[in-house]
Amino acid sequence: MNAVDLSVQIGRLKLKNPVMPASGCFGYGEEYAPYYDLSRLGAIVVKGTTADPCPGNPPVRLAETPAGLLNAIGLQNPGAVAAAAKINKLGALGIPVIVNVAGHSTEDYCRAVRILETESTASAYELNVSCPNVASGGMAFGTRPETTAALVKKVRALTDRTLIVKLSPNVTDIVAIARAAAEAGADALSLINTLLGMAIDIKTRRPVLANLTGGLSGPAVKPVALRMVWQVTSAVEVPVIGLGGISNADDAVEFMLAGATAVAIGTANFRNPYACPEVIDGIAGYLRHNGFASVTEIVGLAKKERPGGEHGAGKTDYCP
Ligand SMILES: Cc1cc2nc3c(=O)[nH]c(=O)nc-3n(C[C@H](O)[C@H](O)[C@H](O)COP(=O)(O)O)c2cc1C
Repeated sequence: MNAVDLSVQIGRLKLKNPVMPASGCFGYGEEYAPYYDLSRLGAIVVKGTTADPCPGNPPVRLAETPAGLLNAIGLQNPGAVAAAAKINKLGALGIPVIVNVAGHSTEDYCRAVRILETESTASAYELNVSCPNVASGGMAFGTRPETTAALVKKVRALTDRTLIVKLSPNVTDIVAIARAAAEAGADALSLINTLLGMAIDIKTRRPVLANLTGGLSGPAVKPVALRMVWQVTSAVEVPVIGLGGISNADDAVEFMLAGATAVAIGTANFRNPYACPEVIDGIAGYLRHNGFASVTEIVGLAKKERPGGEHGAGKTDYCP
């Protein structure tokens, strides 16, 4: 079998392959370690971490939907000091560990990062300006370019580690927010977080989620995520981690063809604990089958003009 190069660069991080689990869908890896060797992952992204411990929202916090999942976890986490101990253990895997950071105010985010700077060996921060499940902060930062930029600047001043900003799809102009984050010093962007939604129980005649609304994820959101990745990677230079509804290698390849340098997998891990390694192997298979030597060759390829007309005469036959 021909060797293919799966490595990609995100800020200062060199990933041996472009696949990582998404924040909040993989804990600290403990539940998945019995299934496969986690050092196979390109990186690991841990749960949203706040400066202080956070109990999250009361139950019911999850509701299944056709082709999707609604969650209103509300950033349940042990707080930055306890999270740092778990993050440091993951260092033994020898892969980049990315900490998703959340807060209710600018000072909250900064305090969490200050603690993680001193207490943790994390390789990178993923600034969650897009959590739809908290009463204040979270998504409120990521829905306006000015508030996004102001927060990114403050956090940028606190760290030399790679800074990724995770964008919300619950906006009218994601490109404006992506540009603001990149100009304020983000090394990379990740998108998308969940789409705000709700479910109603017709027997109780009440909303299913105690929080009333939740964030929609899973296959249902994939076309929205893909469109946003296309738009953002057409407008900014920094690398983008694409996510939202990726369940298999074909989905991941679509995101990379749209312009994503790497991909993250969230909800699919709940249905199939092997989702991440299967996507890694499937991307390698796609590259081999189509004669690509490196995964970077397919990044944004769907946007490039090809001989033979608008959609080109490129190979379309792909057998997984
Ligand atoms: C149960 C659950 C918890 C999540 N927790 C976080 C979180 O703490 N921080 C964050 O940025 N995103 C969180 N997300 C959003 C995911 O990381 C991801 O952006 C979203 O689910 C879309 O990807 P998917 O369709 O592959 O799940 C969570 C999603 C789910 C389903």
